[in-house]
Amino acid sequence: MKINRTQFMEEGYLVLREVIPPEELNALRESYELMVTRQRDLWVKERHPNSPPEGVWETSAQPRLNLGREPLAGLVDDKTASAVEIWAHENMQHVSSELLGEEDAGVTEMMLMCNPVRDHGPAAWHRDHHPIDTAPLQGYIDDIVETGPRYVQWNLSLYDDNVLWVIPGSHLRVNTEQENEQLLADPRTPLQGGIQTHLNAGDGVVYILPILHWGSNYSQKMRRTIHGGFSNFTHYPTLDYMEYLSPKVQEMFDRWNARSHQMQEWTENALQAAIDKDASTYHAALEKLHPDRGEKGKLLSTVFLCKAACFVALTHGYELEDIPDDLRNRGKGFHSITLNWGPPFAEERFTQEEASTLWERFKPLDALLKTDKEHFLPGFQSGPMRYYFNEMPPNYGVADFIASWQ
Ligand SMILES: [Fe+2]
Repeated sequence: MKINRTQFMEEGYLVLREVIPPEELNALRESYELMVTRQRDLWVKERHPNSPPEGVWETSAQPRLNLGREPLAGLVDDKTASAVEIWAHENMQHVSSELLGEEDAGVTEMMLMCNPVRDHGPAAWHRDHHPIDTAPLQGYIDDIVETGPRYVQWNLSLYDDNVLWVIPGSHLRVNTEQENEQLLADPRTPLQGGIQTHLNAGDGVVYILPILHWGSNYSQKMRRTIHGGFSNFTHYPTLDYMEYLSPKVQEMFDRWNARSHQMQEWTENALQAAIDKDASTYHAALEKLHPDRGEKGKLLSTVFLCKAACFVALTHGYELEDIPDDLRNRGKGFHSITLNWGPPFAEERFTQEEASTLWERFKPLDALLKTDKEHFLPGFQSGPMRYYFNEMPPNYGVADFIASWQ
């Protein structure tokens, strides 16, 4: 499959035709539909007493299957293994690796987005970005400009799908004044410069977060769109579908899972180096985590590690000041692409004393990521907060972070 990486880097997205080979489309539809039936049965069983009979299937604006998150959900077996294997297809995995400039990108999440049973109309324009627990938008932009994205996201449609709109180039800039005005007034109408993607069944759109995008219409029109992404930073809460996959695809998941463990190791090394005030080990760990990133990329990783340090301290029971609930809650989950390896990482790799020292090292950087007053910008997934949405600390680099240990 031919791809134009230059266009991808400039516009932040590419529409690719026939990513699913036409002769495989029907079988893949059947496979996913069987999983939809299985998930609907689960939703009936899990429904809240006050919910309608089919639970989430009836209430959600966009009912979503998640193939890799719930252990033993039973969605994937020998009849539906193709739903996982499509992620390993060269049109997805090889293309993603090429776009990321990596050897062997791993799949992050494997989902399916479905149409709702009732019209829910347009969603709100947004960037898939929570600055509160990751980093300010400018940190991402600087890293993408410097070396390229760390993660690419996909929509792959099993039926014709015109739902997604994007603002080309918005992954490389903050919102304009005009966009902010319009998003505050009504985030559910077309933004100026917005492009509607038109996917035929089997086509895909691959895009760079944090591009500004829009789910323009959650209508009852048949929608079964595969959704997820690729990165070198992956985490597999369960691999109970492995036994159903072909040996070749099993090998791929084995490689990605081994790398995930290695990444956790290097993340631990970086945090331990901060505890030990060991600058050269800190630099070495950053280089291992993300080889050949520049100054901006290393600073972005350092901000991710600042959040990781916060989560380690919280998990060990420290009552940190000025840490909002929204940030605390994020530490209870996983977000591998930003080096959040979840509570087990914090519990198993650091003592309580180390957790306290670790936060001492990162607290000065945390302060630089905050302003005095709570504020809000539209188009993000974080609500009003004291952390900056857009700005990285001015005139600040990894050297300044290391200097703050003294
Ligand atoms: Fe989104």
